[in-house]
Amino acid sequence: MKATVHLDTQHHVGPIDRRVFSGFLEHLGRAVYEGVYDPGNPRSDEQGFRQDVLEALRPLGMATVRYPGGNFVSCYDWKDGIGPLESSPPSAHSASSSSNYDWKDGIGPLESRAARPDYAWRTIESNQFGTDQFMAWSRQLDTEPMMAVNLGTGNTADAAALLEYCNLPGGTYWADQRTRHGNAEPYGAKLWCLGNEMDGPWQAGHVPAAVYAQRAWQAGQMMKGLDPTIETVACGSSHRNMRTYLEWDREVLEYCWDHVDYISAHRYSENRRDDSAWYLAEGLEIDRTLEDYAGLLNYVRGVKKSGKRVYLSFDEWNVWYRARDGDGHWQTAPHLLEEVYNLEDALVCAQYLTSFLRRADVLKIACMAQIVNVIAPILTRPEGLLRQSIYYPFALLSRYAHGRSLTPVIHGPTYQAGDRGEAPVLDAAASYDEETGQTAIFLINRSQGEELTVEIDLADRRFAGAGTVDLLGGGDVKAANSWEDPHRVVPVQGSAALTEENRLRVRVPAPGLAVVRATVAG
Ligand code: AHR
Repeated sequence: MKATVHLDTQHHVGPIDRRVFSGFLEHLGRAVYEGVYDPGNPRSDEQGFRQDVLEALRPLGMATVRYPGGNFVSCYDWKDGIGPLESSPPSAHSASSSSNYDWKDGIGPLESRAARPDYAWRTIESNQFGTDQFMAWSRQLDTEPMMAVNLGTGNTADAAALLEYCNLPGGTYWADQRTRHGNAEPYGAKLWCLGNEMDGPWQAGHVPAAVYAQRAWQAGQMMKGLDPTIETVACGSSHRNMRTYLEWDREVLEYCWDHVDYISAHRYSENRRDDSAWYLAEGLEIDRTLEDYAGLLNYVRGVKKSGKRVYLSFDEWNVWYRARDGDGHWQTAPHLLEEVYNLEDALVCAQYLTSFLRRADVLKIACMAQIVNVIAPILTRPEGLLRQSIYYPFALLSRYAHGRSLTPVIHGPTYQAGDRGEAPVLDAAASYDEETGQTAIFLINRSQGEELTVEIDLADRRFAGAGTVDLLGGGDVKAANSWEDPHRVVPVQGSAALTEENRLRVRVPAPGLAVVRATVAG
């Protein structure tokens, strides 16, 4: 099979925000405890941070990491598997009598921190890792914190107090507490999520959109009043299948437009039917979600006759459908949501990223959910770690997508993607960095049977040489890395040829990903 990708360095959707390569760390299962934080383990430093995990995360180049949840901040019960795949009428459940996560439990001397029940995942939260630990860990990773406040059972005053604790210089109660805990320098956290999945009836404190909008507006005003340099993210829809999808978002945006910077979207992909042809076309649905939000954001901007822009923060995305049981049976750091990923999952993750790049005009932040042990690219054991298949597309795209996002025009074959209908065999995105003259082209072959030969044509410039190629995949879609066989799904070097017409010719494995890098002649 053959396909052609036409590019032009002047035909683009704007600069790629590095924050589309971000992560998410939730107090859930073994993500924090035994994941990033494991005091006493010989692989951890004196602060308890697993150094091998940090080393494995660094090549992912995550610009920001969202914390501490997720459902952890205000969900009342996940154990029945309720969640964003289904939606029920608003206010079907009332708020829990507990306060769910209270950030104040996670500060101060470790020995005086109270253990609390975590209602979301039915585990015991020791609170040994809290805000100060997360900030110190973020510094070691060289990433920016993205904080989520509890707007379910928490109130706006508590949210503002957390901001005061993190960002104010001193001389006020909470800022002085931070200094007392050994951190005189403010953390300067810039990104703040105003709750999590507040459209979902599984959140304690879930309310109709109009009520949430007022709450988010109030919290945002108080927080920006304390630190006008912050950016806020209002909760959008938890999933495209939600009954209130886009309507919730519209109401929130119409109310908060002048006071928020982003609206969130979440999505978890699945292949429950075990239909790989269908699953490998998941990018079509991701594209549609981004189109939906592009339309909505323009609509609200138009209705408000506003010169201001609000962008999309896709702050939870991944594949998640096998390890859905979220009942921790009141254990500490139980094995929860430890999804094992294969090649087809890696290619779906690659499609999230290519889709995000193509809509760099609308999407500024995207967090892979999550980063370690829980639906994650990395699994740990006390004596080591394993990189799962989904680690590699993230690492490759994050490393090479720089500069502006080019708009690819694709000519190529289609295939029958189950009940999604006809889908293009080739999915592609491309970037061009004017400063370095480097272009990177990301090609995904959705075919399970046939290699795809792709010719890349650059209309306004010339490729200086054949460049370099990394390939992932080919063969069994169910191939996965394991502790016994950790290198089954890893990138290998490929090659490109430069044709007489100055086109790059690359062979993309079936199914697989090719990442092509070439210098563009001046
Ligand atoms: O990432 C797992 C869970 O999925 C998060 O806690 C929640 O926000 C989402 O529904």
